[in-house]
Amino acid sequence: MRVGVLTGGGDCPGLNAVIRGIVRKGVQEYGYDFTGFRDGWRGPLEGDSIQLDIPAVRGILPRGGTILGSSRTNPLKVDNGIRRIKENLAKSEVDALIAIGGEDTLGVAATLSDDHGVPCVGVPKTIDNDLSATDYTFGFDTAVNIATEAIDRLHTTAESHMRVLVVEVMGRHAGWIAIHSGLAGGANVILIPEQPFDVDQVCAWVTSRFKASYAPIVVVSEGAKPKDGDMVLKDGSLDEFGHVRLSGVGEWLAKEIERRTGKEARTTVLGHVQRGGTPSAFDRWLATRFGLHAIDAVREGDFGKMVALRGTDIVRVPIAQATAQLKTVDPKLYNEVGVFFG
Ligand code: F6P
Repeated sequence: MRVGVLTGGGDCPGLNAVIRGIVRKGVQEYGYDFTGFRDGWRGPLEGDSIQLDIPAVRGILPRGGTILGSSRTNPLKVDNGIRRIKENLAKSEVDALIAIGGEDTLGVAATLSDDHGVPCVGVPKTIDNDLSATDYTFGFDTAVNIATEAIDRLHTTAESHMRVLVVEVMGRHAGWIAIHSGLAGGANVILIPEQPFDVDQVCAWVTSRFKASYAPIVVVSEGAKPKDGDMVLKDGSLDEFGHVRLSGVGEWLAKEIERRTGKEARTTVLGHVQRGGTPSAFDRWLATRFGLHAIDAVREGDFGKMVALRGTDIVRVPIAQATAQLKTVDPKLYNEVGVFFG
C-alpha cells in the first residue's frame, strides 16, 4: 500500500506534526510506503513528489510551516485537472491520498472522493478555526497565543502614549482569533466578520475607555466590515478559489477613530506572524492525533471522511458535510464578551 500526502491552502503551525503522525504510524504499524506531494494540489496535478519515510519526518514535530510546501492551486479550475491527478496517482502507484487543508483543499478532496472514485481522507487545518464538524482545527491555538501576546505588549505602549491601538488579526469569515485573543488579552473592543460594526459605537467605547484614564485596544478581524459600507480592502486580487486578498480594515478604522474622536490612533497588522513558527503544545497534540487517526481511516478503507475533534475524541465525518458550512461565532458568544467593551 502506498499513501500520498499533501498540504494545501495557507500554511499553519502543526502541519508537520500531522505528517509525522501519519508516516510514523503508517510505516511502523502497517508497513505502508508514502509519497509526499509538493505544494498542495499542484503536486499530484504535475506529478511533483518527494519520498516520505521515517528519516524524512525526524525532528519536524516542533517545526512550523510544512516540509511538503503548500499552494492554493485549484485542480478543478485546470483543464483536465482531475484526469491528470488520477494519471499521476496511478503513475506513482499511490493507492490512497491524505489531504491536509482547509475548506478549499478539503472541498477538492470531497469532489475527488465522492464523484471520481479517488480514495481520499481529509485532515482539517486552518488558523481561522472556521471548519464546521470539528471543535477545533490545529494552528488556531498557536495563532491565538501569538495574538494574545501581541495585545499584552500593545497595552503597555498604548498606555505610555495614551493613544488608541487597533490590532488587525486574521479571520476571513469568522472572528474566532479576534474573540479568543481579544478576550484573553483584555481588549476594549472586538470586531468580527459575523457582526458588522457601527463606527460611532466603536468611537463611543474608545472615548469611554479614555475617560477611565486608560488607552483603548481595538481588536479587529481582517474580514470585519462597517455596518454602512463595504469590506475595506487594500487590494482586490483573487486567489484560485475566488477569495479576495484581505487586510486594510485596521488602518481604515484607526483613521476613522482619529477623525471622529480627535484621539491619536495607530494600527498593528499581525498578518502572517500568526501563521509562522513553532506550534503550541495543544496544536502539536491535536495535529499528531489527527495524523494517527487519518492513517487508521486509510487502513480501514474509510474514504471520503475527515478526522475531527469532538470533545476529547477524534471522530470521522464525511468531508463533504464538513466543508458544506462554515463555523462562525454565535451572536450569543459575542454578546457574552461585550461586557468588556468600552
Ligand atoms: O485561511 C487562513 C488565512 O489565514 C485567512 O485568515 C487569511 O485571509 C488568509 O489565510 C491569507 O493567506 P495568504 O496570505 O497566504 O493568501
